Amino acid sequence: GSTSTPVTTVSQYACQRRTTTENHNKIFTDAFEVLAESYEFSEMEGPCLAFRRAASVLKSLPWAVRSLGATQDLPCLGEHTKAVMEEVLQCGRSFEVEKLLSDERYQTLKLFTSVFGVGPKTAEKWYRRGLRSFTDILADRSVHLNRMQQNGFLHYGDITRAVSKAEARSLRTIIDEAVRAITPAAILALTGGFRRGKEFGHDVDFIVTTPELGKEKSLLPNIINGLKKQGILLFCDYQASTFDMAKLPSYRFEAMDHFAKCFLILRLEASQVEGGLHSADGDSRGWRAVRVDLVSPPVDRYAFALLGWTGSRQFERDLRRFARVKQQMILDNHCLYDKTKKEFLAATTEKDIFAHLGLEYIEPWQRNA
Ligand code: CTP
Ligand code: MN
Ligand code: MN
Ligand code: MN
Repeated sequence: GSTSTPVTTVSQYACQRRTTTENHNKIFTDAFEVLAESYEFSEMEGPCLAFRRAASVLKSLPWAVRSLGATQDLPCLGEHTKAVMEEVLQCGRSFEVEKLLSDERYQTLKLFTSVFGVGPKTAEKWYRRGLRSFTDILADRSVHLNRMQQNGFLHYGDITRAVSKAEARSLRTIIDEAVRAITPAAILALTGGFRRGKEFGHDVDFIVTTPELGKEKSLLPNIINGLKKQGILLFCDYQASTFDMAKLPSYRFEAMDHFAKCFLILRLEASQVEGGLHSADGDSRGWRAVRVDLVSPPVDRYAFALLGWTGSRQFERDLRRFARVKQQMILDNHCLYDKTKKEFLAATTEKDIFAHLGLEYIEPWQRNA
């Protein structure tokens, strides 16, 4: 045969693709992600999503693209994405991307949004005021920083440094011990990027609940208290549950779910991490600050919360889009609703949800879309 490319059709939905952490097309997807981010800064959702989708398709390929011809049967690649790929194939880089990377606005918004608690809107506001550096922000008396942003600056060096698997394992033990001290029967699961098998993350995500429905209500406040007593709670933004089964499935246009959750910064000791901390200055100090997210759904919502918090973001987007477009169903972190049958579909495992959606089961480590 003259071709080495597999002749299988690639779905336009990430939830019908298996995407491991091994990316054979990083030179293209890195370029697309810069462009997507730049469109996000300009609030151009269409082109932003187009580049995210294109990057996601290329990430799923078990082979590296070596010519534009090889992409002709792939979905989600438009004129603009192909033009960028052409440049990368010919020159090893894209001039459009290079221009963005050296653009003052892009650089500044990228810097500002790297602070915990600073989103594109705040970054843009500061940029329009003429602020260009952290020094500018901290010196400007008209800038009000909320508590999250203050802590973002305070722990900036530590929390912008990647979290390693060994650090995630150590945090799991710490959270597990805090949870067991409250209720030994509690359910604790690692979720987010580390559940997908990533080597590094920007934080560590956990789901925690109780086997007895309703008992989960006091769980997060008690865990937070336990961490505080241990002296390792550096920051805590706790959001109580606003979940109400009677309001489902009408939450669907909101980005966030309604479960109790907390966004934490914890103090992690080097001595508690096998092989030490993933940071040079952290090691000399003997500890580092690390971001941890905890979400606490009622146990009957567990499978939906686990699926929703495992990600990736693109995988979640496409699961929802697939549910809506292909099955006339509404999926979110709380439930799955069948619009045709006008009923909620029950699930105790992620496999149940994939089955309801008529999808082959995709393992967590195949959801790195
Ligand atoms: N998520 C969510 N609601 C939030 C925050 C996160 O549903 N308020 C979901 C996201 O959609 C994502 C998952 O939780 O799928 C994990 O989010 P995050 O920690 O931001 O990303 P990771 O995939 O874990 O990547 P990283 O390693 O950078 O942390
Ligand atoms: Mn491979
Ligand atoms: Mn995460
Ligand atoms: Mn997170």
